[in-house]
Amino acid sequence: MSKSLEHLFENNRVWAARMERENPGFFSTLANQQTPKYLWIGCSDSRVPANQITGLDPGEVFVHRNVANVVVHSDLNALSVIQYAVDALKVEHIMVVGHYGCGGVLAATRGTRIGLADNWLRHVQDVRLRHRQRLNHLPQVELERVMCEMNVIEQVGNVALSNVMQDAWGRGQKITVHGWIYDVADGLVKDLDVSMTGSHEVVDVFRHAFKRYPRGI
Ligand code: CO
Repeated sequence: MSKSLEHLFENNRVWAARMERENPGFFSTLANQQTPKYLWIGCSDSRVPANQITGLDPGEVFVHRNVANVVVHSDLNALSVIQYAVDALKVEHIMVVGHYGCGGVLAATRGTRIGLADNWLRHVQDVRLRHRQRLNHLPQVELERVMCEMNVIEQVGNVALSNVMQDAWGRGQKITVHGWIYDVADGLVKDLDVSMTGSHEVVDVFRHAFKRYPRGI
């Protein structure tokens, strides 16, 4: 079994040697501590790798990925990652990063059945329902792009309203939550301009965020 994956081990040896050559002591330093400034919450999609897109090395970004970059208040996995990143690692920025052409968002938008994941994507369908007046009049291609963006904005709100973030901001910890969208067609990240730096900004940023998408007549 492992024989057939030999090329991955070979890649790994080449990579580790190159890292150590370019930055002697790189791994021994990292082995003792990690001090990432960023928490990336993104989609599991293989085309959206956090480190490569942002040019960050191992040790520089804490990462949580799931199907359609969803943050749910009952998801112990995501909440544990956020809590550890905020309380223990003291990250300064949390970015929720969606991407155009997201299979999960498309399935939720089109009502396509996938299987077990339908239950997970129910949260994305809720986004579609909540904003239907800003969505239903759009042509399909545009609607799907907007849904990818709206899903990010909703999840930024979920991060900001989590008790972890509320407590952190409450004790004066400096953390900004951002919403980004990545385009798999050109490799570029766009800031959706919904950054929040404290509890007092959440409602305003959230309310204004959706005004860029006009309602249908
Ligand atoms: Co995706």
